[in-house]
Amino acid sequence: MTRRAAALRSFQRRLLAWYRVHQRPLPWRRTRDPYKILVSEIMLQQTQVDRVAPKYHEFLRRYPTITALAQAKTTELRRVWYPLGYNVRPLRLRKIAQRTLREHQGRIPNSYDGLLAMDGIGRYTAGAVLSFAFKKDAPILDTNVVRLLSRYFGIRGEPKRGRTQRTLWRLAEGVIPRGKGHVINQAMMDFGATVCTARVPRCPTCTLRRTCRSYPIDGSTQKAAPRRLRAR
Ligand code: ADE
Repeated sequence: MTRRAAALRSFQRRLLAWYRVHQRPLPWRRTRDPYKILVSEIMLQQTQVDRVAPKYHEFLRRYPTITALAQAKTTELRRVWYPLGYNVRPLRLRKIAQRTLREHQGRIPNSYDGLLAMDGIGRYTAGAVLSFAFKKDAPILDTNVVRLLSRYFGIRGEPKRGRTQRTLWRLAEGVIPRGKGHVINQAMMDFGATVCTARVPRCPTCTLRRTCRSYPIDGSTQKAAPRRLRAR
């Protein structure tokens, strides 16, 4: 086995083992309803987990179904969304609901084509819905996942740049063990949010440290570390 293949296997095995013990009990993980998962993912696009959780419940109490959301009045919709911000998001969600009723018999599409055709759904959100709701092995790449993959596999360069971005998407796809996309995607998010954090990562006790290309990142001397490995 090449070093890279061994590092990949180790990444998968250790991360999944870590997740079994340390996963966060987030409310949208208790459902596989594509509508609820879509609502959570749109909320999470620009907003922190802690702020989304209470609003997620409130929003779904008021709009429990796609039909209810499709019929929402703008004033009330905005009021229920407040104070999450980026206020185009609830309007887009309503549009997605309306279009889902019109074009997909009221069922959130379970394909990239169907999802990406909707305003407000990009590659990341499509991957999240496909993996969390439909258990497909679709990759996701948010800031937590970018940071974790870049550090662990030693990917340099700006993550938003074409070539680096393609490398990262390929990696995000390549790390998924068959049939486990919905688990490893959540695991990477939690690991990035709680261990492989932007400013002071918990390297000394990290379960991935033996095979990590960036170990150790020393939080106390991070000014000396390359910028891209620090606060991403
Ligand atoms: N950020 C975006 N999607 C998320 C999810 N499903 N769980 C935790 N954080 C997220």
